[in-house]
Amino acid sequence: MWTPENADIDWFVNGRFGLFIHWGIYSAAARHEWVMNREKIHPDTYRRYFEHFDPDLYDPESWAKAAKEAGMKYFVITTKHHDGFCLWDSKLTEYKAPNTPAGRDLLRPMVDAFRAEGLRVGFYHSLIDWHHPEFPIDGVHPQRDDEAFREAAKHRDMKKYVAYLHGQVRELLTEYGEIDYMWFDFSYPQRDWGWSKGKGAADWMSKELERLVLELQPKIIMNDRLDLGRGVRTPEQRPATLADREQDGKPVLWETCQTMDGSWGYDRDNLDWKPADMLVKMLITSVSQGGNLLLNVGPNARGQFDRTSLDRLKQMGEWMQLHGRSIYGCSSSDFQPPADARYTQAGDRLYLHLFSWPFKSLWLEGLGGKVRYAQLLNDASEIRVNDEGSTLRLNLPIQRPEVLVPVVELFLES
Ligand code: GLC
Repeated sequence: MWTPENADIDWFVNGRFGLFIHWGIYSAAARHEWVMNREKIHPDTYRRYFEHFDPDLYDPESWAKAAKEAGMKYFVITTKHHDGFCLWDSKLTEYKAPNTPAGRDLLRPMVDAFRAEGLRVGFYHSLIDWHHPEFPIDGVHPQRDDEAFREAAKHRDMKKYVAYLHGQVRELLTEYGEIDYMWFDFSYPQRDWGWSKGKGAADWMSKELERLVLELQPKIIMNDRLDLGRGVRTPEQRPATLADREQDGKPVLWETCQTMDGSWGYDRDNLDWKPADMLVKMLITSVSQGGNLLLNVGPNARGQFDRTSLDRLKQMGEWMQLHGRSIYGCSSSDFQPPADARYTQAGDRLYLHLFSWPFKSLWLEGLGGKVRYAQLLNDASEIRVNDEGSTLRLNLPIQRPEVLVPVVELFLES
């Protein structure tokens, strides 16, 4: 059974910031990684993306560099998404990158490149498979409304699919060295369409799958989507709630996963880009609540990160270069921050992140007499303080420092 006690969690808890990558043949459709499902595309039609997937500009070293410069400490790559397409050279299927015009295993050079930059390696693997001939059709399958397809598929055997699923996980966890994080996606046992039911732990044989993962990679971290009620919590495209962050009043491991534009896979016409300061605030908010941020990029089908994603990573990297100290190794604080601010803390350092810049004075409740020194983190310039009983008054400059989110570093009396 997976527990944080027998896993190597320090890199995860201290690193705080990771890169999610969604890349597959859906990147060629360039309209969301669920395109097969949303448009109910028949597998024969969907094959056009398989036949035209030719990432001629793929340069994983440049991806790894961009992630490292953004301040990220790990990455999670979609080895297979729900459409069933595999990025690596699986012996168990023909539906894989080496058989597209790409002509090679696309996973291995990526793993090598990110490892070389010192990032930890995570594999996202879809439990769902809309391509496998034995995966029983259900209400989230692209062919859910295709009566003839359903009729022809009615003898599909989940056991055979599960053998494939477990077999591929075995490949991934034996052929690519030490893997730090296994990210399964996803279970939906509570769904019921009458003619079909959702799938969960009993369908995937999740306990056996978890056992297999631990046998192959004893120190690995696992996420919470195997429907076993354990693993790193993964609130998706929303802030974490108290229910995500705690179990029986005790903090648990969690990571919020976020897109830059609302789509995980490359989505050409999408204009919903979050500005860089919003992304930095998401990271700060996660750490201030004791969790991580896994931020996604969906590379295009030529194998490149688009300009907007690169711009966001660059801006975040500039902020992280000056403010990494308030993120890495930090967690929530027992002190209550003022309005529009977030605290993170590591030992005797308390970090005040100012989401809006106040005029000159800011009063911090509960910190009177407790702070021996204060400075802006971006340039280590002193911030003079006054103790006013149990309250501490900060005397801030009129000019807001020119960084996405200014941070005041408070040295607490020990
Ligand atoms: C989801 C989606 C998906 C995405 C993911 C990331 O459940 O199905 O497309 O990969 O979660 O969290």
